[in-house]
Formats: sequence, C-alpha cells, structure tokens
Amino acid sequence: MRILGIESSCDETGVALVDASGSGVPRLLGHALHSQIEMHQAYGGVVPELASRDHIRRVLPLTDAVLAQAGLGLDAIDAIACTRGPGLAGALLVGTGVAHALGVALGRPVHGVHHLEGHLLSPFLSADPPSFPFVALLVSGGHTQLMRVDGVGRYALLGETIDDAAGEAFDKSAKLLGLGYPGGPALSRLAEHGDPAAYKFPRPLLHSGDLDFSFAGLKTAVLTQVKRLARAAPEGPATSHLADPLTPQEKADVAAGAQAAIVDVLVKKSLAALQATGLRRLVVAGGVGANARLREQLDAQAARQGLRVHYPELALCTDNGAMIALAAGLRAQAGLLDGAEATGRFDVAP
Ligand code: KG4
Ligand code: ZN
Repeated sequence: MRILGIESSCDETGVALVDASGSGVPRLLGHALHSQIEMHQAYGGVVPELASRDHIRRVLPLTDAVLAQAGLGLDAIDAIACTRGPGLAGALLVGTGVAHALGVALGRPVHGVHHLEGHLLSPFLSADPPSFPFVALLVSGGHTQLMRVDGVGRYALLGETIDDAAGEAFDKSAKLLGLGYPGGPALSRLAEHGDPAAYKFPRPLLHSGDLDFSFAGLKTAVLTQVKRLARAAPEGPATSHLADPLTPQEKADVAAGAQAAIVDVLVKKSLAALQATGLRRLVVAGGVGANARLREQLDAQAARQGLRVHYPELALCTDNGAMIALAAGLRAQAGLLDGAEATGRFDVAP
C-alpha cells in the first residue's frame, strides 16, 4: 500500500511517498520539499496569496521528483493523503485540490490528514521511533499542546496555550529584535551569544498547577525590555526601528532571556505531564522541537530522571509531506482510514 502525502498548509510545499504495507512503521520511499521562506522574507511574514500561488507552481514538479526518487510511476500510488487543516485556506485548497484531482484521475481514494497529527506522529520516521503510550509536546507556530497518546487516533488533550503558541512567542520576540522571518531559528542563533540571566523575563503559568501555557505576556515583556534599553542608548530612542539602538550584546541577551523563559515553561510543563500521567516517554514535535536549548534541557532532565525523549529528524520538525503520508499510513495500518475517519478527522478527547 503506497500512499502519496501532500502538505501545503502554510509556507512549505511538501510531497512524499510511503510504503505502508505490513505492520512495521511505514517506509519513506521518497520525499521532496520546497520552502517559501525566501519569498516571504521581504514581507516579514507569510503572505497568504503568494503562498497559494507558489504551492500551485511547486506541487506537481515535487510529485514528479518524489516518484523519480522512488523509481515509480503515478500508477504505483494506491492512495493519496493531503493536509486538510488547520492552515491558510487558499494554501490548503491547492494541496487538497491536487490530491482530489489525482484521486479522480487514478481512481484512488483520497484521505484528509490533520496537520497536527502529522507533526505528532513524525518521530516514527526517526531512527529511534517511540512506542505507545507517550506524552506528546506539540510546539509549532500555531499550537502548543500537551497530549496523552495511547495509539494512532487515540489522543487526549492534557493542556494547551490559552493565548499565543510557543512558536509565535519566538517569532514575535524575534520581530521586536529586528530579526528576520522566520523568527524562531534566528532568535535561537542569536541567543547562543547571549546571557539568559542578563534580564528577567516572566514564566507565565509556571506554577499554575495545570498543564496550560500562556505566552502573550512574554512578547510584552520583550517589548518593555527593548524600549528600556533603547532609551538608555547614547543616541536616544529616536529611530525608525525599535531594536536598532540596542548593542549586539544587548540584543543577544534579550534573545537568550526570552528563549530561556519559553523553554523553561515547556520543559517544566512536559515533566509535569509525565508525572500526571505516570508515563516515562515524551515525544516532541512541531517546528519549535528543532530548538537546541529545548532539546538540551529535555535531554538533561531525561538523563537525570530516567525518561525517554523522542524527536523527529531535524529536517522533519517543520512542515513536510513525509509526516502527512506517514500519518495516513499509520492510520491505514490501524484500520482508521475508512468510514468517517476517511475525512482525516483528528479527535482530541477532552
Ligand atoms: O511546525 P511548523 O513548521 O509550522 C506550523 O505548523 O506552525 O512551526 C513553525 C514554527 C515557527 O514559529 C518557527 O519560528 C518555529 O517553529 N521554529 C523554531 C525553530 N525552528 C522553527 N523556534 C525555535 N527554535 C528553532 N530552532
Ligand atoms: Zn506545522
């Protein structure tokens, strides 16, 4: 059973082919990705209309590339999976439209996959895949959630952000520091040269006793700190760009402090979720899962407490087609790709 997966929810066009025959983890036969980052950089963020148009340009050449990698033709595809949401409407329409067109042309079924389920299951493509059950920390640009995962399709929400997502906190802090888009990787690189203790940043809900997150206040704290430093700068605050009067070291210190605040909360709440569920395995997925400080701190805690932490391959942390093809493959193996599940519904029981 070969499944073609198409991802087009935001600013990456991803296509992949997996072989989901048998009961082992579906095998990746080919995958190709085009990132639109360069195109959106000039605008400081994703421009939805440009994103949709670029997906249209990329999706078929990427499909050809994947089939060439696998040494197969279109007729070797047994089913097609596409991201059904959440994401930018126009961007999603490109992937779902192409998936359905291929489905009709080839006479193959088409399955919608929830984007977050793709992220959640992506560590199964790593060299060291997790086994069920586990706690998942899903940290992307749009979501921050902790879930108990008992099997494919068996997800229980333990806690989530009540305002901004962790990736959004990275992106907004980066913007205030005058860093480019996407902010997360840029802020993380700058933070390497900074002192995380130079300035104090809040760790919202750290002691709330539940597993929810709140990151909106951090953006305000970064803004306040940047303004304070700008006022103290010898040339004064009269500048068109807020972050300009800061010295490179001040900027790096703010970046390091903001990153440390986000990471501290993510680590503390993940450990609390493991304790609350009595589970010993944590899976980290989503773009922020690429963050080096988050990985270091989780690994250190894991070593200290005898826990296992699984991550997707770095290249599969951010959006890609492999995770969509994989999620469909795992669902097929679990018998969840027919009836109502064929719509790719992603049920999160409260
Ligand atoms: O999962 P993803 O590619 O897209 C969504 O589904 O949102 O996540 C993108 C998010 C962005 O906010 C980006 O800044 C963040 O992941 N990100 C990072 C890093 N790499 C990507 N944040 C912190 N450190 C990183 N190394
Ligand atoms: Zn994503």
